[in-house]
Amino acid sequence: TDFPIFPPSFEWGCATAAFQIEGGALEGGKRPSIWDDFCAQTGRIKDASDGLVACDHFHRFREDVALMADLGFRHYRFSIAWTRVVREDGSPNPEGLDFYRRLLDALHDKGITPNATLFHWDLPAQLQRAHGGWLHRDTAQRFAEYAQIVARALGDRLPRVATLNEPWCSAFLGHDLGVFAPGVQDRPSSLLVAHHLMLAHGLGLQAWRSVRSDTQLGIVLNPELCDPASDAPADIAAARLAELERNDVFLNPLFGREWPAEMIEQIGAFAEQRRPGDLAICAQPLDFIGLNYYTRSIAQAPQSAAEQRRGYRFVPPDPQRPDLTHIGWEIYPQGLERVTRNLLAKWPLPPIWITENGAADNTPVEAGGCDDRLRLSYLQSHLTQLAQMVASGLDIRGYYVWSLLDNFEWAHGYTQRFGVVHVDYSTQQRTAKASARWLQQLISSPQT
Ligand code: BGC
Repeated sequence: TDFPIFPPSFEWGCATAAFQIEGGALEGGKRPSIWDDFCAQTGRIKDASDGLVACDHFHRFREDVALMADLGFRHYRFSIAWTRVVREDGSPNPEGLDFYRRLLDALHDKGITPNATLFHWDLPAQLQRAHGGWLHRDTAQRFAEYAQIVARALGDRLPRVATLNEPWCSAFLGHDLGVFAPGVQDRPSSLLVAHHLMLAHGLGLQAWRSVRSDTQLGIVLNPELCDPASDAPADIAAARLAELERNDVFLNPLFGREWPAEMIEQIGAFAEQRRPGDLAICAQPLDFIGLNYYTRSIAQAPQSAAEQRRGYRFVPPDPQRPDLTHIGWEIYPQGLERVTRNLLAKWPLPPIWITENGAADNTPVEAGGCDDRLRLSYLQSHLTQLAQMVASGLDIRGYYVWSLLDNFEWAHGYTQRFGVVHVDYSTQQRTAKASARWLQQLISSPQT
């Protein structure tokens, strides 16, 4: 087969997140997160599952690191569980930190460079129960203290660190749509949470840099490409509002710019909780930005009252269409280029890494193999697109496939498989899929 061509310096990696793979939920002094609480509520998770065992990566990390090395990945993006490394009284938990130290040493031994995310949605449940989690400004301060603990304990082993993963999901899926933990449904709250998350990002970078100056620091976002459902002005306006919420709410603060007026209006009475001086804190220098890309959205003028408050409604693609992944998302590789160029036209982005891209393909293991053709063709088309983008001069330095392993897919539980490696949850057996073998060949192919 022909492989898309990338520069030799291009970095190839795979990505995971703590809550989705680790398990070991109550071991080594680990405390529950809001996702443990959310899973315990009836009706929240499609298959009523939880993250107590997940892929048991907590016990099998050496095997998993060996596997990624065998597949040729030289870079690994993972997240640190706040609840594992900080105790209830705010002091460091040595046992939890030691888990990540052992993981990082195992990666180092295999020549794999780590890229750690500090917050991939698993807020300590205690902060939620005590004062509403991200609705409370103090949580941003707690995050900065946590960042400092990690910088002190693990900073010597961490060349690259992102503060937050996809704060849009924590804010809007968690506090407006209510489909993610903590399951709140209140539009103004979701905007206040978005503000506090960006404040946490800024305070976190300041805190980290007060300990170390040799770490490349950044943030991971999931910017939106939102096309209107028709040429009607109301649909066009709706698509624009969706992009403001998804992009400007997060990117503007990173570059010291005020939110668009529409978003300030939507935060309502909480507006005064955004203090003068906050923007300057959010706008810390960035060494890199991570972009996650899966699909695009189609927006229409709002109908229901909740949609009116948002200013748009999403139109999901017709489930009968052939060009969808198993989770129902449109396969739209051109979107990767369109969204990246849209962002670059508007904001002075630092060097970019594609920190997540992948597909849900639930093909089972048969006769010892997993022929995940849908994922393979998804990766082929997106990497062909990416190769063109890099060749045209966009400053994109690397790519992490989502995900190394099938894992706990949030509200979908274990019903959607995103791994290039299959996980049999009853035996914890790992089986590399056809897509993993294809990536292995691509990574080792002679590049020009
Ligand atoms: C998240 C991952 C998630 C993936 C697929 C991203 O939004 O960062 O945790 O599993 O998408 O839904």
